[in-house]
Amino acid sequence: MIYFDSAGSFPVLDEVKEKVIGTITSHYANPSSDHAAGVMAADGIEKVREQIAEMIGATPSEIIFTSGATESNNLALKGLLNCDLAKNKKHIITSKIEHKCILSICSYLESCGYEVTYLSPDSTGKISVDTVKTALRGDTALVSIMHVNNELGTLNPISEIGELCFQNGTLFHTDAAQSFGKTEIDVDDMNIDLLSLSAHKIGGIKGIGALYIRDARDIDVLPVIHGAGQEIGIRGGTVATPLVSGLGEACTIFPKYYVSADFAQINAHLERELKSKSIKYTINGENKLPHIVSLTLPEVDVITFLLAHREDFSLAQGSACSSKEIEASHVLKAIGLDREKAERTIRLSFDFNTTKHDISTLVSKLQTFIEGA
Ligand SMILES: Cc1ncc(COP(=O)(O)O)c(C=O)c1O
Repeated sequence: MIYFDSAGSFPVLDEVKEKVIGTITSHYANPSSDHAAGVMAADGIEKVREQIAEMIGATPSEIIFTSGATESNNLALKGLLNCDLAKNKKHIITSKIEHKCILSICSYLESCGYEVTYLSPDSTGKISVDTVKTALRGDTALVSIMHVNNELGTLNPISEIGELCFQNGTLFHTDAAQSFGKTEIDVDDMNIDLLSLSAHKIGGIKGIGALYIRDARDIDVLPVIHGAGQEIGIRGGTVATPLVSGLGEACTIFPKYYVSADFAQINAHLERELKSKSIKYTINGENKLPHIVSLTLPEVDVITFLLAHREDFSLAQGSACSSKEIEASHVLKAIGLDREKAERTIRLSFDFNTTKHDISTLVSKLQTFIEGA
């Protein structure tokens, strides 16, 4: 099985596995307990909080541990819109290419009386600053625009959007699940008020993530999970010490691996191979992280190919299957692909083990499939 789905979940790093197992053994006490073992567990958690804060230019008290980016996004949108900071404003701006969880939170908020503007990207997959500017209103409570898109790998102009929101007195949230650890983030320079991240996109374990909340201690955030005062009362539940330690390890190691990985060479090899076998293709999106490739293959019935090769390749399709019909990806539709092109699109996402040989194997199978069709 060749794994091409690191944007779905990055393979867990060996160092993370070791760290997590070590923490399970040594830091098993409840981090909220006052005794020495509890304090030791809590200290481990605080070190990771400091580490994450340092990585994004925040202070440790602004980092709230959650179960992952979905929960962080829920807390950011539902938790903050119900507090004083939103000043009773009822308008939200987001984009049509956000992760499905943001879209479903927004749809819930619409049912609670909020009005949501869904911005369209341009054909390269970018949400332009001008579209945000045009949509901003006096009653806009929050703008939520993702940093890196999970299907295309494209980067949005977060600094410029942040600056605009700052000038307008509007809260700015970014879903950084796909960018954290892979590209520079500074919440002050970028005027970000809220930022969601997730461990399993950077070689950590599923079930842990965090939300950065500017001045978290001083503001009134409605918890999504009420609890016994953990995480300064914003997120209830015993903090998962081993998972947090794994996130800390991933934060230490992943960025170094990422910058030294030669994804450019993998991309070049992919294009060379496709060209040498005369397979027609287009790559969707511009200005993107190099480990994600959205590839439209007009000659390939991608649904049939993926079904035939589900044991050979872990690949994501550019469309989501529901039980009744194939629904074209909302992201690909938003950048202007018609249904057929969207259905003939695959997402490849590379990790540190991806080789040129993996790429050649995939392209050979594509060629055989096209010839047999
Ligand atoms: C952009 C984006 N946001 C949110 C999520 C959800 O993250 P998690 O699995 O940590 O809840 C993902 C993961 O697929 C993602 O890519």
